[in-house]
Amino acid sequence: MCQPQSPGFRVVITGKGGVGKTTLTSCLATVLARNGINVLAVDEDPQINLPNALGVGFEAASRIVPLNRHADYIEEKTGIRPGRSGWGAMFKLNPDVDDVVSRLGLRVAENLNLLVMGTVKQAGGGCLCAENVLLDATIRHLALRGNEAILLDTQAGMEHFGRALAKGFGQCVVVADSSYNALSVASHSAALARQSGIPLVYLVVNRVLPGGARLARFQLESSQLFKDIFDAVIELPAEPQLEALDPHVARIMDYHRSAYTTAVTRLASLLNSPPCTCTADHHHGHSHQHAH
Ligand SMILES: Nc1ncnc2c1ncn2[C@@H]1O[C@H](COP(=O)(O)OP(=O)(O)OP(=O)(O)O)[C@@H](O)[C@H]1O
Ligand SMILES: [Mg+2]
Repeated sequence: MCQPQSPGFRVVITGKGGVGKTTLTSCLATVLARNGINVLAVDEDPQINLPNALGVGFEAASRIVPLNRHADYIEEKTGIRPGRSGWGAMFKLNPDVDDVVSRLGLRVAENLNLLVMGTVKQAGGGCLCAENVLLDATIRHLALRGNEAILLDTQAGMEHFGRALAKGFGQCVVVADSSYNALSVASHSAALARQSGIPLVYLVVNRVLPGGARLARFQLESSQLFKDIFDAVIELPAEPQLEALDPHVARIMDYHRSAYTTAVTRLASLLNSPPCTCTADHHHGHSHQHAH
């Protein structure tokens, strides 16, 4: 028997640039919130596209101050004023950020809150500036929050599977399109996600073309089978209506019933009741399923 998981679930969304991560995150967040789940959408991309995608108005979006720019909050939590760090500065390495969502989160809709991180770029991974200490602590903290679905929209690439994500983020959605490059990045991201300790990794092939010939070709040419890499493969068709809604793409879930919204809704259900990973000899791939 599967042990009941701790209440709430935490999902990181990753993948190559421009494949549809933010659009998907915003649509998933919207449909989950609509189904009565308390959702926290977290934007970890310095480009900050998630507020717009979720339908936050232009004015309200422009007033959002990302977490890494809240100098007073950073100072309060880490003991150091941003920009004034230097040799000998003492960081509180485990700042208590229990209040981060209530103080800095933005209520987008019923059951739906948004937290914008404003990630600091790390050159060579050597920086221990106050902003990064706080961002790390926040991710660690979010990983422990219960009674909430947390969806973390990341910036393109794969370098963000740090130790902070290893705890608590039980599911990873890797988004790709049908191109060889995007699928290669996806397969690499899946490996990193597993190494980070994320037990469930799904592939979403966005704007998939009918027939799936390119997916078959990728598996043949790369000698990798999706069923060995991913716990499920979800195909999302192209959705022409998204262009008209741009940038408030999550509104697609409001009025429109299409192959895209149906597939997103199915993915939301999968995230909400994920397959069991509790058996000691669990091998990913055995629960491979297609949820078109
Ligand atoms: N299924 C789809 N059909 C048609 N257009 C789509 C689909 N999914 C996403 N798009 C469009 O593709 C563009 C890129 O999407 P999005 O911003 O979600 O990608 P991203 O992976 O978050 O990009 P980035 O790496 O820059 O963060 C947007 O204009 C979006 O509306
Ligand atoms: Mg994005």
